[in-house]
Amino acid sequence: MWGIFSYAFVVGGCALQALASYDFVPDVTGMQLGKFVDPLPVQYDLAGSQAFKSNISSSYWASSYIYGSDNHQYLAVSHFLSLESGVSVRRSSILDVTNSCFYNQSTTIAGLPSSVSGNTTGVKIKFDDYGFISTTDDPLGSINIYSTDPASIFNITFSLTSPVILNGGQGSFLWETVIANEWSMPKGTTTGSLTSGGKSIAIDPKRSFTWYDRQFQSSGASQWTWFALHTTNSLTKARKSYSIWFSPDGQGGTKGFATVRAQDGVQVVVAANLTTRGSSWLSPHSGNEYATAWTLKLADGSFFNITSIRKDQEMIDSQALTSTYEGFVNVEGEGVSGYGVVEIQPPVSF
Ligand SMILES: *[C@@H]1O[C@H](CO)[C@@H](O)[C@H](O)[C@H]1NC(C)=O
Ligand SMILES: *[C@@H]1O[C@H](CO)[C@@H](O)[C@H](O)[C@H]1NC(C)=O
Ligand SMILES: *[C@@H]1O[C@H](CO)[C@@H](O)[C@H](O)[C@H]1NC(C)=O
Ligand SMILES: *[C@@H]1O[C@H](CO)[C@@H](O)[C@H](O)[C@H]1NC(C)=O
Ligand SMILES: *[C@@H]1O[C@H](CO)[C@@H](O)[C@H](O)[C@H]1NC(C)=O
Ligand SMILES: *[C@@H]1O[C@H](CO)[C@@H](O)[C@H](O)[C@H]1NC(C)=O
Repeated sequence: MWGIFSYAFVVGGCALQALASYDFVPDVTGMQLGKFVDPLPVQYDLAGSQAFKSNISSSYWASSYIYGSDNHQYLAVSHFLSLESGVSVRRSSILDVTNSCFYNQSTTIAGLPSSVSGNTTGVKIKFDDYGFISTTDDPLGSINIYSTDPASIFNITFSLTSPVILNGGQGSFLWETVIANEWSMPKGTTTGSLTSGGKSIAIDPKRSFTWYDRQFQSSGASQWTWFALHTTNSLTKARKSYSIWFSPDGQGGTKGFATVRAQDGVQVVVAANLTTRGSSWLSPHSGNEYATAWTLKLADGSFFNITSIRKDQEMIDSQALTSTYEGFVNVEGEGVSGYGVVEIQPPVSF
């Protein structure tokens, strides 16, 4: 019955979407490092960068765009973050994109798990209720992410089958006052299951994918807005993936840039401007105010209207010590449409 609506039908801050509104299509070409990465003067080795490092801030982030066996589309987010101080944050969320009234998340602050102290090559983050673990000897092979916290239950395995986005062109950029290292694998093949409404939902690997993001640097920026977007040109059907950063420049201004990867794996870096539209959302959980709609302009002339499909997509721990917005967004541009995730980090509070 929801299929009759071609646009979102808003009920009390959440919405019903048409079934299969979004084209979640994985890349199956492989990373093609020899073609796209090896010739570039990147300052670190991608495979080597998978290993955990305790003396810097280290982030493993995944967002899985899922077509489920119940014909609903889902977004599952998994993030493990560790700070130089030895504090870690692990968080997971599931949003039913087709019926965005269903959202839940769990965020836990802890120390480092003992699994990271071993001499591992890939990623090995293992808690009782959360995992982010390489399942292949090749650190750039496959990764299993799971959450058994009752608020968000999933067990997903993805493979690194996409040409990467080297953020800033080389995978390193000035992030407020520090040099951040970040590479993104936008559309890896994905299998597994998640739980929604108490039912186990199987993932359709042909219509699902995962964006994997590895970032590490000393310390970090004080606040930012980041977009991971995917668009399809309505005429040519050409697809693009974007990693777009807006962060303070340390002198009262903002730096903005998009690293854009075309379907064939070729990437370009363009300057970007962001303005907020519409009303913001005041979180009753944290007191933070989050923008929920934006106009994004790129220096190549493209522009996009971006809108969160549900207001409350805030990931926050039970004591409200740390909060970050990780929201599914709808994207409309001239002749293109798409979707993605916005990450909003309010001024860091802990
Ligand atoms: C972190 O430790 C590694 C060796 O374990 C070292 O190569 C690197 O320089 C250190 N980084 C910082 C920021 O101290
Ligand atoms: C880690 O493994 C490498 C290669 O196997 C070895 O050279 C190194 O000594 C090991 N480091 C520790 C701390 O065990
Ligand atoms: C989220 O999950 C927790 C744990 O199961 C539950 O107590 C809570 O009611 C859920 N919240 C929502 C909004 O569904
Ligand atoms: C996730 O699924 C895999 C494959 O079915 C299984 O081996 C593993 O035990 C599961 N993990 C959890 C935490 O349930
Ligand atoms: C971004 O904004 C600045 C300042 O208003 C302007 O100079 C620049 O041309 C804008 N760039 C784009 C891509 O719109
Ligand atoms: C973006 O939103 C503005 C304001 O609502 C509207 O005028 C414009 O047509 C939209 N552009 C696209 C490409 O959807």
